[in-house]
Amino acid sequence: MKGIILAGGEGTRLWPVTKATSKQLLAVWDKPMIFYPLSTLLLAGVRDILVVTGPGQAEAFEALLGDGSAFGVSIAYASQPRPEGIAQALLIGRDFLAGEGCALVLGDNLFHGDRLRERLRRAVRRPAGATVFAHPVRDPQRYGVLAFDGDGAPLDIIEKPASPPSNLAVTGFYLYDGTAPDRAAELRPSARGELEITDLNRSYLEDGELAVETLGRGCAWLDTGTPASLLQAAQFVQAIEERQGLKVGCPEETAFQLGLIDADGLAERARAYGSSEYGLYLAHLAREDGGVADPTGGLPVGSESRMSLP
Ligand code: DAU
Repeated sequence: MKGIILAGGEGTRLWPVTKATSKQLLAVWDKPMIFYPLSTLLLAGVRDILVVTGPGQAEAFEALLGDGSAFGVSIAYASQPRPEGIAQALLIGRDFLAGEGCALVLGDNLFHGDRLRERLRRAVRRPAGATVFAHPVRDPQRYGVLAFDGDGAPLDIIEKPASPPSNLAVTGFYLYDGTAPDRAAELRPSARGELEITDLNRSYLEDGELAVETLGRGCAWLDTGTPASLLQAAQFVQAIEERQGLKVGCPEETAFQLGLIDADGLAERARAYGSSEYGLYLAHLAREDGGVADPTGGLPVGSESRMSLP
């Protein structure tokens, strides 16, 4: 399965902060925002990634992530000329996907929590159709929201409903089979002029091919599109990292724990970050060969130890 990180958009809700830079390069506490969805993709088992950026922004992302070898994966770049909808990522990525299924993640979504890796991998193993991940929120009208029938089966998905049918929002991590680009090509722009990801998901739902995985309260899902949510996400990461002494959303650590890079590769990446706190953390991991006092082996909470990973 391939992966796409959608990291375009104008970040208008963060202006003037994002007038001259990509939102997904902003800091969420101690690392750039895009490190979080990148870690999530690695955790899901994705090894071939396309980063879709705004026009003229690919260079900055490339300076940060390179060709992916620092994380033991391959990273390519493509540009979205205008923010014409999340579903457009599937059209931009059509050649890259070459008929394969994909995991699409929004560059401003942060996931952390119990048994995350297991849940992602279980969904990735599903051979056909699409999977969305739902999470309870206090303000569902800001999101795509799921409606369910009496038996708890998904009935509909409504984008930013004035009267939400449930408190379960569709998060920005989606799994699609190889039909997604063709389905996206059939979509028409919504009233706000976008190819809506909710319409793509609805196309799977109408064909009886949409699975819903609910991430419960043991899992945190944060988006970072406004000054308040950006600050809250940073404070969340700071609180956990300072309490545990373990990082959240550190793709080098995830790559190391998954065996995608070895201790030498990790040490090299640590050197590239110099004497920053982040660099020193990686250097420590490389020296200790992952032997920190962490029963999860340094993976985000709920993941298995390094030894048991494939
Ligand atoms: O975060 C989950 C929500 O994301 C879902 O519940 C909604 O169904 C979905 O429509 C989306 O809602 P948002 O209002 O958060 O979408 P937004 O326009 O803010 O875009 C989300 C991210 O995707 C943001 O980082 C910018 C990027 N993006 C967005 C569009 C429309 C692009 O790179 N290109 C685009 O064309």
